[in-house]
This record gives sequence, structure tokens and C-alpha cells, in this order.
Amino acid sequence: MEKKALITGIAGQDGSYLAEFLLYKGYQVHGIIRWDSIFTTERIDHLYQDPHVNNVKLFLHYGDLSDTGNLERLINQIKPDEIYHLGAMSHVKVSFDMPESTVNIDGLGTLRILEAIKNSKLPIKFYMASSSEMFGNNAPPQNENTPFHPRSPYACAKVFSFDITRMYREAYGIFACNGILFNHEGCRRGPTFVTRKITMAVAKIKAGLEKKIYLGNINAKRDWGFSQEYIEAMWQILQQDQPDDFVIATGESHSVKEFLEVAFQYAGLGDFKQYVEIDDRYFRPAEVENLIGDPLKAKNKLNWEAKIKFDELVKIMVDSDMRRLNLAAPGEGDKIIKEKFPDKWWKVD
Ligand code: NAP
Ligand code: GDD
Repeated sequence: MEKKALITGIAGQDGSYLAEFLLYKGYQVHGIIRWDSIFTTERIDHLYQDPHVNNVKLFLHYGDLSDTGNLERLINQIKPDEIYHLGAMSHVKVSFDMPESTVNIDGLGTLRILEAIKNSKLPIKFYMASSSEMFGNNAPPQNENTPFHPRSPYACAKVFSFDITRMYREAYGIFACNGILFNHEGCRRGPTFVTRKITMAVAKIKAGLEKKIYLGNINAKRDWGFSQEYIEAMWQILQQDQPDDFVIATGESHSVKEFLEVAFQYAGLGDFKQYVEIDDRYFRPAEVENLIGDPLKAKNKLNWEAKIKFDELVKIMVDSDMRRLNLAAPGEGDKIIKEKFPDKWWKVD
């Protein structure tokens, strides 16, 4: 029997890769997109199928995480086997500017879906996109037993979603799981997140289109992995016999400064300091200084381990952004993908 999956946030970085992965696995995939005055589905345009032709595998539905009736109707109509709840206002800095709507979408949005699952009485498995931001400044390495100390409206909403997911599992027996994912990046990363902001700037500077990049706290450290590998972990989490929560991370942390060093050197631009200006507007009222995940449980129970290391990730992203501007990319990143993922299931961007 063909499995059916419903993805919230299908047009986002993770949603687009997950849709691609599940289609590759033979799923029928349904995704919720928001209405906007322009199309915002660029990341999934290559997967789109005209609903009028036969044997369509991908279906897009208008919806919003603030709309309870819409979510209930979609879940009852589609009757998915698995829901991957990835939709969110996912930018930590922006959540300080719009805390109420962030908590409504990123916190209450999760509750709305869980209530709809409970009321539907369908045996739906639920994946919650929880975040390493929930740990705040608690000492690394962080694992499934590290207490939470959220330091942004975004992280507070994610802690609520984490807890309500666990609670619905315990109270109602729903197969509901949290993936506590550390930062994962790639060629479809939104341009306002620091990694992609840097690799796009590198390409533009190389092309002579820009001279500077303006950044905030470049001493912050993150555990940065490669997005496609994290997508596979999401799916694995829902294929376990028992619902559970997992940290997904590389186990290494690097500063924004190190990211700059590798990216500018790799593109042949030399010392990044020539190009970087610090701008107060990119600092946060409260920062998370250092995230390092301990992915031991995922290794033992899911047999999941990150293959792409920090330098490799930077090279993959720089190659992609240089190619987008029709520049000759150094190509090491493309080679790494070919070598490490001979059976890759995604379209290279
Ligand atoms: P993303 O690229 O920002 O995608 C988020 C998606 O959510 C977008 O498609 C967006 O729709 C959708 N969305 C936002 N508000 C919505 C609303 N009110 N109703 C319905 N959909 C809405 O984020 P991502 O990097 O793919 O991350 C996926 C999830 O994992 C998020 O929940 C994020 O918080 C979490 N997470 C991400 C990371 C990471 O490093 N990437 C790490 C840990 C956890 P539009 O396309 O219309 O904007
Ligand atoms: N975005 C951004 N822009 N961040 C900057 C900048 C800048 O100009 N300059 C420095 N930074 C620093 C931030 O202060 C932060 O410490 C770090 O770079 C990473 O910022 P982001 O790339 O915005 O990611 P994030 O770590 O805040 O959040 C991402 O990862 C979380 C998981 O830990 C998002 O994907 C979240 O949705 C996710 O939950």
C-alpha cells in the first residue's frame, strides 16, 4: 500500500527536500502552502505535477498554521499515515520583532495539529521539528537529557511544541516524536540565515556585484550539518517501533568567523576581514553562544551519523552559489556530493 505523508512547511528548505525524499521512497506526498500574492514555491517547482494528469504523487493545499478548521479539514480529508510538521516562522532574530505571531504559529500551530490528529482517531504518526535553540546557553555538548533554557520567542515556542508533542504521546498514545535538530544548511537555505548569507555574498563579491557583507555576532558557534542528511533522520525517526525523541547533530561546533574564513579562502578571495563589516542591527537581544549536539542516541538507535563535515558543507554551498551566478566554481563541493552520495535522491541546486 502506498503511504501518504502530509508536510507542513513543504515550500521551506527542509520541506522541499523531505518532499523529494518521500517521493523517491514511493510516498504520495501532500503539502501545505500559504497563499501569497506571488508564488513562493520555487524550492518545489521541479517536483510540481499538474493535478489533472494521471498518477499524480504530489498534492499542494492552501493552509495556514493559524487556521484550526483548515488543518482539521485537511487532515480528515487526506488521512495521512505520517505528518511531518516543519512549518514555522523559523528565524530566531525575527522572532524578537514579532513574538506574538511567532508563538501563535510555532507553538499553538503544533497544538492545533495534535488536536486534529487526536480528534480524527486516525493512527497518524507525527514528527515535530524541534530545535537545538531550546537548549540556550546550557553547557555543550547537548543531548536528549540536557535541560532547556530558551533565549528567544522562537525557542520558547519550540519548547512548548516539544512538550505538547511528548504530552500527546503520553496522554493519548499518539505516535508523536521530536527531532531536536541542530543547524542544518544547504543550497536551498533561506538567504537571511548566516551560512547562506555568507555564501551568497562570497559569490556576489567574486562576481564584482558587491563589495561588503554586514554581519552581527561572528563569534557565535553552531553545530552545522548538511540538510539532506537531516531529512533522512526525520523519516527514520517515524519508522521506529516506538515513538521517541532524538538529537540530530554532527557533534562538532564552529564559529561564524570560521565559516567566513573557509568560504572566502575557498573562493580565492583571501582574508575575509577585507569584506566584513559588523552591524549592530544583526545582534540579538539574547544570544545562544555555543551549540554542540551529542548525536549518540541517533547513532545507536537509528544508525544515523553525519557524513558531511564543516569544511565540506561550506564548499558545497559556495560551489552552488557561484554556479548560480554563472561563475566557474572550484568544484570540490560537487565532488564531495558525488563521492559521498552515489545514490543521491535530490536535485542538485
Ligand atoms: P524554512 O525554510 O523557514 O521553512 C519554514 C516553512 O514554514 C516555510 O515553507 C513557510 O512558508 C512555512 N510557514 C511559515 N509560517 C507558516 C504558517 N503560518 N502556516 C503555514 N506554513 C508556514 O525553515 P527550515 O529551515 O526548512 O526548517 C524547517 C523546520 O525545522 C522549522 O520548523 C524550523 O523551525 C525547524 N528547524 C530548523 C533547523 C535548521 O537548521 N534548518 C534546525 C532545527 C529546527 P513559506 O514558504 O510560505 O514562507
Ligand atoms: N541570521 C544571521 N544574520 N545570523 C548572524 C548574522 C547575520 O547577519 N551575523 C551573525 N549571526 C549569528 C547569529 O547571531 C547566530 O548566533 C548565528 O549567526 C546563526 O544564526 P542563524 O543562521 O540565523 O541561525 P540560528 O542558529 O539563529 O537558527 C537556525 O538554527 C536553529 C537550530 O539551532 C534556524 O534554522 C532555526 O530555525 C533553528 O531552529
